[in-house]
Amino acid sequence: MNIQTLQTALDKKQPREILKKIYAQFDNLAISFSGAEDVVLIDMACKLKLNPSIFTLDTGRLHPETYQFIQTVMDHYQVNIKVLTPNKDTLESLTHEKGLFSFYTDGHKECCGIRKVEPLRQYLAGLSAWVTGQRRDQSRATRDSLQIAEVDTAFSGKDTELFKFNPLCYWSSEEVWSYIKALDVPFNPLHEKGFISIGCEPCTRPTLPHQEPREGRWWWEENDSKECGLHTGLEKQ
Ligand code: ADX
Ligand code: SF4
Repeated sequence: MNIQTLQTALDKKQPREILKKIYAQFDNLAISFSGAEDVVLIDMACKLKLNPSIFTLDTGRLHPETYQFIQTVMDHYQVNIKVLTPNKDTLESLTHEKGLFSFYTDGHKECCGIRKVEPLRQYLAGLSAWVTGQRRDQSRATRDSLQIAEVDTAFSGKDTELFKFNPLCYWSSEEVWSYIKALDVPFNPLHEKGFISIGCEPCTRPTLPHQEPREGRWWWEENDSKECGLHTGLEKQ
């Protein structure tokens, strides 16, 4: 599969159309689920009867509301969401050596690497493509040049290319929330408490009016390092 051909075929298409086209071309792909955008994609994929595989990375540090939300989505759409967990031994070494909050002093990358990036890497090794809810306007610093179709250079194998699709790339937050409201799509109740972008509980806080959507993530770090490695690969940060 050629990335230029894919980009041309998907250019200026609406998310529903993008999902239809990629599901027609790939049979081994999965939707990554954590938040509002992802449920929009799940809603579309279920209504299109694409029978999507869905996974989520359970870091062990999510808010209770988020765990409840994962179950709500499974029940609402009658789908199974594969819940991936970190490697027990690596995690035990980290907490044994550095305790439970090392990210506040030496940065989030080590903990994200163990709790998110490695489980993701292992899971993606069995796929030919994955779908995310990333959008350009989530961050001027890190998502400004996002494409609908990409080769995932961070997680491709030595001899095989992994494709990554971001069908909501050009949607605004307003479009996402209009869809959610109009179609009664389930959302994380934390959004009603001022949270915009939601990750792990110790690393997420509500944002103030007119702050960038990702300001509440790893707020003690600089704007241009507010990625956990899922979309950049830790080695590239
Ligand atoms: S991130 O920094 O946590 O990666 P964000 O919360 O903006 O960023 O999520 C962007 C996309 O990454 C989501 O739409 C989803 O596709 C994927 N993603 C983020 N967190 C998870 C997770 N815990 N499990 C699965 N996918 C995730
Ligand atoms: Fe660890 Fe925070 Fe990253 Fe979650 S977001 S994996 S708690 S550093």
